[in-house]
Amino acid sequence: MRIRTPTEILPSEITRRECYEGRRVFLRRAAALGLAGSAFPAGELLAQNPAAARLAGARSGYSAIEKLTPYKDVTSYNNFYEFGTDKSQPAQFAHKMATRPWTVAVEGEVRRKKVFDIDELLKLAPMEERIYRMRCVEGWSMVIPWVGYPIAELIRRVEPTGRAKYIAFVTHTDPASMVGLRLPVLDWPYVEALRLDEAMHPLALLGFGLYGEVLPNQNGAPVRMVVPWKYGFKSGKSIVKILFTEHQPATSWNVAAAHEYGFYSNVNPAVDHPRWSQASERRIGEDGFFQPKRKTLPFNGYAEQVAGLYAGMDLKKNF
Ligand code: MTE
Repeated sequence: MRIRTPTEILPSEITRRECYEGRRVFLRRAAALGLAGSAFPAGELLAQNPAAARLAGARSGYSAIEKLTPYKDVTSYNNFYEFGTDKSQPAQFAHKMATRPWTVAVEGEVRRKKVFDIDELLKLAPMEERIYRMRCVEGWSMVIPWVGYPIAELIRRVEPTGRAKYIAFVTHTDPASMVGLRLPVLDWPYVEALRLDEAMHPLALLGFGLYGEVLPNQNGAPVRMVVPWKYGFKSGKSIVKILFTEHQPATSWNVAAAHEYGFYSNVNPAVDHPRWSQASERRIGEDGFFQPKRKTLPFNGYAEQVAGLYAGMDLKKNF
């Protein structure tokens, strides 16, 4: 896989849903929603039907040149255990989660602690579209056109103190709408975390949309992390709190099974998970079960950009 730098991306390459889906399907949908012909300013939601509202972003920087995983697969084959452990359950049940009103509290080692209203967070920085390859530790992958902006944009604005070394993402828990919370699979709320320099990397996004629309609930509406060089579980969905810490935070999967899910969890074909090989992967929506699997690349193909973050670390120990 080759990653383009921002300078290689043409201004004309602003991706539109109609390009992926066929213009007629798009127009039919848009007409049904009363959206046809409207302008869609970046980052602005069309409030009535947030689940299908447009969220445009200019294609810029680091987009993978690979075939996109179909929208229907991206939005129906999900891991979001709060809605059940089966891949089809998030799409079935996540519509019950209310994504307005929604706030994201920024706390801990920052000078400017603040509770952001989601609509304020949406407008904090220009939206970009980034096509990222995503790989799950279970051995499957997808290529997804995300809409969002670098988490670094938020980090800079809240001014981390000199003690801030990590950043934790605490996600939503609502027993009334999240049927999966009844299962003791994880210690809820779902928490993920990064080292501060990882979170500051321009590839790490706060994601608000995909395929030119606001995130469907099952993909982590209204805001999630998108960290393409790490296994999928590092990208927490439906974030409600961002906590800056001096010490490495406890994270849900690491607490549940530390020998299976390391804190770093960088995609690494050389270090197998106890139950799944990480050497190869199956691309959802493209590769059949009988097809030879694709080779998995170190750091999921983003080594050139991110390997430097781990210079001098033993990645077999810090898996
Ligand atoms: N975030 C929350 N809150 N709960 C989860 O169960 N699952 C993770 C991650 N974020 C999860 C989560 C896992 S295991 C993966 S692979 C990705 O979300 C899947 O994201 P996707 O469904 O958008 O592909």
